[in-house]
Amino acid sequence: MGYHTSAIAFFVIFLTVFSASLAHIVEPEDYFYGRMKFQADDESIIQGPPTLEDIIPIEKDLTRFVDYLRSFGDIIGLISNPNSTITLFAPVNSAFRNLTHKPHQVKDSSQDPKEKLYQFVLGHIVPAIYETLPVGQELQTMRQGIKVKVENGKDGGYKLNGEINTGVTKKAVNGIIYKIDGVLTND
Ligand SMILES: *[C@@H]1O[C@H](CO)[C@@H](O)[C@H](O)[C@H]1NC(C)=O
Ligand SMILES: *[C@@H]1O[C@H](CO)[C@@H](O)[C@H](O)[C@H]1NC(C)=O
Repeated sequence: MGYHTSAIAFFVIFLTVFSASLAHIVEPEDYFYGRMKFQADDESIIQGPPTLEDIIPIEKDLTRFVDYLRSFGDIIGLISNPNSTITLFAPVNSAFRNLTHKPHQVKDSSQDPKEKLYQFVLGHIVPAIYETLPVGQELQTMRQGIKVKVENGKDGGYKLNGEINTGVTKKAVNGIIYKIDGVLTND
């Protein structure tokens, strides 16, 4: 085993041991904004428990939302970083069917379709891990000014913004996914 290989092995072990405990020490918001600077070029070295980026493509009913997430390098960096702390509200494919306009559809040439889609995605990410959602509260998303109102819903789920239902959840080392039957924001 060369010097390089052992250095990498040590790095991987170090990450595995410390990333879990670190998530609890660091203030979620500061933590998150630090993460935005992260560049996803050392992904191939990092192995360990599955991240959101590892598990979300497996979900056949989320392909549309996954395409949107993966349009942005910094979002990929965020969901693939084992140190991130994220709650992802993921609209299922059927949630996009009845929308009057697509998330990247702009009204006129003064708007940038890519920026519009980016804001749509940020409006579905909360920078903290909620294994249960706080009923009666509003969660601040990564999109400025956009909050998600949480209430009790049917079958042990939650109702969001008074009209969207949560369904199946999926856990990863750096966060949790709640499947939802509508979109939370689409202006
Ligand atoms: C996660 O946090 C550890 C400890 O601070 C750091 O060494 C590591 O580089 C971070 N991982 C990533 C992918 O940023
Ligand atoms: C979409 O619209 C159709 C027809 O109006 C309706 O039956 C269906 O329930 C709607 N689907 C969703 C996901 O809202």
